[in-house]
Amino acid sequence: MVKDIVPKAKAGLPADFLWGFATAAYQIEGATTADGRGPSIWDQFCATPGKIADGTSGAVACDSYHRTAQDIALLKKTGARAYRFSVSWSRIIPLGGRHDPVNPAGVAYYVQLVDDLLTAGIVPFVTLFHWDLPEALYRRYGGFLNKDEFVADFAHYARVVFDALGPRVKHWITFNEPFCSAILGYHLGIHAPGHTSDRTRSPVGDGSTEPWIVGHNILIAHATAVKVYREEFKAQAGGEIGITLNGDWTEPWDPDDARDHLACERKIEFAISWFADPIYFGHYPASMVSQLGDRLPRFSQEESRLVAGSNDFYGMNHYCANFVRHRDGPADVLDIAGNLDILMEDKFGRAIGPETQSAWLRPHAPGFRKLIKWLSDRYGRPKIYVTENGTSIKGENELPMEKILQDDFRVEYFRSYIQAMAEAVAEDGCDCRGYMAWSLMDNFEWAEGYETRFGATYVDYDNGQQRYPKKSALEIGKIFGQYIGKV
Ligand code: NOJ
Repeated sequence: MVKDIVPKAKAGLPADFLWGFATAAYQIEGATTADGRGPSIWDQFCATPGKIADGTSGAVACDSYHRTAQDIALLKKTGARAYRFSVSWSRIIPLGGRHDPVNPAGVAYYVQLVDDLLTAGIVPFVTLFHWDLPEALYRRYGGFLNKDEFVADFAHYARVVFDALGPRVKHWITFNEPFCSAILGYHLGIHAPGHTSDRTRSPVGDGSTEPWIVGHNILIAHATAVKVYREEFKAQAGGEIGITLNGDWTEPWDPDDARDHLACERKIEFAISWFADPIYFGHYPASMVSQLGDRLPRFSQEESRLVAGSNDFYGMNHYCANFVRHRDGPADVLDIAGNLDILMEDKFGRAIGPETQSAWLRPHAPGFRKLIKWLSDRYGRPKIYVTENGTSIKGENELPMEKILQDDFRVEYFRSYIQAMAEAVAEDGCDCRGYMAWSLMDNFEWAEGYETRFGATYVDYDNGQQRYPKKSALEIGKIFGQYIGKV
């Protein structure tokens, strides 16, 4: 595990810092046919052979839909001050659309969840969309690809949820990781709905243009929902709203090659600035405009004005770092980040961090501090909530339960990342106000199924869904205790 954080650095977090855990509806709730929930594109995707590593789905998951009290008790046991969860659009409006009926049982479920959290003294962070689009909207008009329909339906859904949960909820997130909806769902085909750039594999998809259209339409939907919140609910509720974006840190493969440094910047722009530049500046980053040309949609003046300034805070999902090497040659239609290779070792063969169960995830805590600073510099020191941070552990699922519960690797991950964040606050002047560990418990890790565990709590899926807190669930509060109130 990486230990190269300067130990003497000043580190601290504000006294009212909100730390806790995050989850998402499809990954934990199960009960996908209970109480009138409609199908989502993930139910459909999981039913397609070969899409999920272990052939499973979120149909049962952690059965959290039926175990809310137990999960809130678990949160209390960790000492968490906050909990980020997502609302399943298909529970609220089973057919998804603005002319379709609202499902009172679905609404009641989340009202109860929020009430119970507040009673337990835990601050809810509510994500409106964590990838589970109602299947009917995909069938009806192509989901994200149809701007007018999608934006109108999302705004309506958002209004229904604001109405039901506000003013109890003060922290709203519109979309989780739109990069993944666009690139994994419409370019690589490894997430629902499984479109790819390769027409031989995907007769429906056109990955050379679709991901950028999806990203664009999500930005408009985000900004429209923010407008609804600000105009109709904010005065009464006094809450705040933003989007959650994912982004890894990058280091140059060859530190002496200026082109690798430029490629690092480009990689972050293609992940983060794709969404954050429009939100903070009203336009796409120049690197994307030049690389993608006409494939990148343009903002009308009206859209640009709508999107600019549509964040009250920046929701940061961050897990890891990698090396980036410039690649020569013409821009590739399939190239999502602009003529570069992503590598886990630099030119001297040094690894960026230890392996985990997830091929893409190599812990490197110094990159967390650097990325927080990068965001702070580029976007004018936004208020940041870290809405996800966590790790899987190589081979964890193969271990006996006693060993899984001793997850020192995860404890060290949290310790080093929390310290890096506390340094960014105390030394670099960044404005971090909250941190949600991913995840409260092991859950359905999308295309990886249940073999990859990200939980601070072990879930025994085969024996009554029992929850067993791992060491990390019990240690993380102590780690925060060392930093909170120290700035
Ligand atoms: C980010 C996603 O938001 C979450 O759903 C996922 O489980 C974690 N990354 C880990 O891959």
